[in-house]
Amino acid sequence: MQKKKIIIGNWKMNPESGKLAETLYKNIIKSKFSSKLDVVICPPFVYLEKLKKILKKIPLGVQNISHKDKGAFTGEVSGNMVYDLGARYVILGHSERRAMGEEDEVINQKIKIALASGLNPILCVGEKNRDDNHDYFNVIKNQIEKDFNGVNKNSISNAIVAYEPVWAIGKDAVREATPEEFREVAVFIKKILSDKFGANTVKNIRIIYGGSVNTKNAQDFVVAGEADGFLVGRDSLDAKKFIKIIEITEKVN
Ligand code: 13P
Repeated sequence: MQKKKIIIGNWKMNPESGKLAETLYKNIIKSKFSSKLDVVICPPFVYLEKLKKILKKIPLGVQNISHKDKGAFTGEVSGNMVYDLGARYVILGHSERRAMGEEDEVINQKIKIALASGLNPILCVGEKNRDDNHDYFNVIKNQIEKDFNGVNKNSISNAIVAYEPVWAIGKDAVREATPEEFREVAVFIKKILSDKFGANTVKNIRIIYGGSVNTKNAQDFVVAGEADGFLVGRDSLDAKKFIKIIEITEKVN
């Protein structure tokens, strides 16, 4: 059976008010989505309840959870709490959180908490820079091995891995990644996961691409790059562009 592609909108710390979040969400769900694709929106925590009430058409996710399940952890939000609010996915290990000091040991705890709470973890991996020594392979291998350390073989198929090279993310990106660069890393990630969990277990894990995904490069990443979907940043904040990326991916399916 062919894997269903997945398009995930990572709204990051946007938009600035509940009203704007509602409008953006309503504009996105105006589009007719085919059941051939999974589409997920990951807004900031505070908009979750509001968006869930509008329409249950698109599954919601969050951009972080606590590494603990409950207790005296001021300012933290648990996996069970966001599940209870309707979230079914969580982005973990994003480079913007790694840059704030989040380490693989904590990401690993969060992945286990996510799975125990019934959330599908979207693990982001990727190197900061590309060097001629191909050290990025070691960076990615290290992240995957540490972040999935001790994760149960039976629950790993609920995870999604997003390759997000840090140098290709955001408005300050050095350049766009190429579909070939993505494909190379996706094959590498599959090999690491197969060695760890067995080829049969990982054949349904989706390896998606994130980093300046837009309406111009999406098709190439899906066709030449064989991406199982996208984690979209900036262009998920523009309903028209986000819908277009979904439509492009749908056509290739
Ligand atoms: P941009 O699409 O804005 O480059 O962000 C990518 C990203 O970080 C998605 O998680």
